[in-house]
Amino acid sequence: MIKVGIIGSGSMGTGIAQVAATAGHQVYVYDHNPDALKYAQKKVSKILHRLVEKGRMNEDECTTILNRISFVDNYYTFNDVGIIIEAIVEKLDVKKAVFEQFSEIAAPDCILATNTSSLSVSAIASSCKKPDQVIGIHFFNPAPLMKLVEIIPAIQTNQDVQAKAIELINSWGKITVVAKDTPGFIVNRVARPFYGEALRILEEGLADEATIDWAMTEIGGFRMGPFTLMDYIGNDINYTVTETVFKSFFYDPRYKPSFTQKRMAEAGYLGRKSGKGYYDYSEGSPAPTPVKDQQLGKDIVWRIVVMLINEAADALYLNIASKNDIDLAMTKGVNYPKGLLKWADEAGITRCVNTLDNLHAEYLEDRYRCSPLLRRMAKNGTKFYD
Ligand code: NAI
Repeated sequence: MIKVGIIGSGSMGTGIAQVAATAGHQVYVYDHNPDALKYAQKKVSKILHRLVEKGRMNEDECTTILNRISFVDNYYTFNDVGIIIEAIVEKLDVKKAVFEQFSEIAAPDCILATNTSSLSVSAIASSCKKPDQVIGIHFFNPAPLMKLVEIIPAIQTNQDVQAKAIELINSWGKITVVAKDTPGFIVNRVARPFYGEALRILEEGLADEATIDWAMTEIGGFRMGPFTLMDYIGNDINYTVTETVFKSFFYDPRYKPSFTQKRMAEAGYLGRKSGKGYYDYSEGSPAPTPVKDQQLGKDIVWRIVVMLINEAADALYLNIASKNDIDLAMTKGVNYPKGLLKWADEAGITRCVNTLDNLHAEYLEDRYRCSPLLRRMAKNGTKFYD
């Protein structure tokens, strides 16, 4: 079994180390900050001991897994690992410098992976001596719990490296999907309207946060409403991802961020972590009451879902991923109740096109432009699945 090297002992690096060690690998975790390393070591131990308390593993298993993870302040131990997974700060220049350093000491066949969620894997690979060994392996947070992993070959990546990476991550009990090296990969691209269209509905005054959240959970079957989820993720983080995707798509209006969210972030109304976001999390504050109007609720759900369907269809149209991987990514990565392309089939492709065209006609905004694939399918009377 190959040894695994992790660079960066933050929340992602620590989670990935736990996953790899649980799968039986010897794992080395390196961080340039000694305090971060100490904190990570304590955190993994605490998490695994909690699993023992919950009866999910016994004390011996816990000790064995912990003994497999070494927290190191010297990365020369990485010279005989089979894969290095980088999970450091999300800055291209820093990642490039680190990849350059590590590719100097890594074994010739070592896979060099980045867990980046928004940067170009091809740009990171370009800093390495062997760019064909570089690949994106994008875990979701928390890594031990989230089943989905997006595999992103850079344009330089060797086919064998991709196949080996998929085999390895599957062997860790994860579900892998392959995505083209484009902004947001699958999930962070296709999910944008979940937040963006909900914010737009709020801004137009069609419904308040509680009503939109009620509609999406009770009628739409989503686990969390968009505003509850944005408060959970943090309005600062969610805004930054939206802005990054928008800029990376050369300012395509489809991904335009919302002023409402920007102001929330600027005001420090970050959500749960700051005690206030769209909702007030202070002790004793009453939960807002949604307007439980079935017709309004159905309209809200359909408007957000059709925008999600449009993104999913466009991702397929542009060959970002296969249709199965797009549906799998959204159901396993962000727990959507149904794959979006399957949802499109069930709702009817023509209905999707008509709704998008009506929105476009009403607002005259490019944000509502229908994917050419949906339009073509409606014309030909075809479906995504037979
Ligand atoms: P974090 O801020 O919790 O941890 C980053 C760690 O990297 C810190 O301990 C820091 O000391 C260390 N570090 C920074 N520069 C370094 C260097 N030059 N050499 C060695 N160590 C260095 O960050 P987090 O949240 O764990 O994210 C890490 C990566 O994973 C980022 O690329 C992020 O975009 C990506 N990611 C994050 C997700 C999340 O929800 N937090 C989800 C999926 C991917």
